[in-house]
Amino acid sequence: MKINGNHHHTIWVKEDDEQIVQIIDQRALPHQLVIEDLTSVDDVFRAIKEMHVRGAPLIGVTAAFGMYFAALEAFDNQEFIHYVKASAEKLKSARPTAVNLAWAVDYQLSLLSNNPKSLPATLLENALTIKKESIERCRKIGEYGLPLIEDIYRKTQRPVNILTHCNAGWLACIDYGTATAPIYAAHDKGIPVHVWVDETRPRNQGARITAFELKEHGVPHTIITDNAGGHLMQHGKVDLVLVGTDRTTRDGDVCNKIGTYLKALAAKDNGVPFYVGAPSSSIDFSISDGLKEIPIELRGEEEVKYIQGEHEGGIKKVLLTPKESSAANYAFDVTPARLVTGLITEQGICEASRKGLVKLFH
Ligand code: MRU
Repeated sequence: MKINGNHHHTIWVKEDDEQIVQIIDQRALPHQLVIEDLTSVDDVFRAIKEMHVRGAPLIGVTAAFGMYFAALEAFDNQEFIHYVKASAEKLKSARPTAVNLAWAVDYQLSLLSNNPKSLPATLLENALTIKKESIERCRKIGEYGLPLIEDIYRKTQRPVNILTHCNAGWLACIDYGTATAPIYAAHDKGIPVHVWVDETRPRNQGARITAFELKEHGVPHTIITDNAGGHLMQHGKVDLVLVGTDRTTRDGDVCNKIGTYLKALAAKDNGVPFYVGAPSSSIDFSISDGLKEIPIELRGEEEVKYIQGEHEGGIKKVLLTPKESSAANYAFDVTPARLVTGLITEQGICEASRKGLVKLFH
């Protein structure tokens, strides 16, 4: 997608040096466009943990490049295999909830051979393949999700109001996004859409990143406080809720950014369809019960107590709460399958259930 009219991905190998991977440091958005170089497993670990990169598909792809660095670093190491495996564990521990991270690292590990010479090239090539496939999944989600928006427009003949939570856009992926892919597809086809953007406390991924993306693409949108969605739904101002997912179980429970569950409850109460952009890399077929089996990341309390913004050309953090108060920062929640109207995957749309997923993914 575009920034200032120029096409960008969120991660790429530096043109003149394939031992450097470059990312957009999302902590500075929307105020500054900062490009950061990653050159080691430690760099990748920090970039994921401190959320320079974020969003399930993107952290998966970044970790895949991290495994390439592990192979480069292991090259001079006597304990070659041990080093690569230890790096894999380290990368997986950076953030526990999004399954894409473990999925991408395990995919790279499955290519582990005893040949230290060829491994870096193999893992680089595979990281690039994972990146390419990730883009294609999002593109297909856009294709399959588009008719949902078209149908609403056909019936109402006015702009389709879509509510989204967090950032499940191209900046959380490589391109297109998951929840946003159908929105961009509809907008590009000339269907009038308007997006309600949940600010998404505490990191404000909606207010900062989704709003930035939509603004750059020219999609009409309005930022709302996290608590406004229910009110808007009660007053008929939301036609469709579209969110992403960090991990969806084989029975269709959807784990996503904290607050998603409350939007799903409000959507159910008001008869608003609630769809999830769910690439197969975010589906964890090994578990069934989202509430019991998905590890929920607990992040530092400073993210709740401080708020970040732009002031006189610099990015500043200010204290929002009594310094002495403690804060809890649960990063994700689980929306039970019964509240989900459907999963939009790269294979098509299905019911959020084992039956629905089996039909698409056998
Ligand atoms: O904590 P974050 O910003 O990494 O959380 C991201 C989300 O919750 C997204 O909705 C999810 O990863 C889907 S991204 C296409």
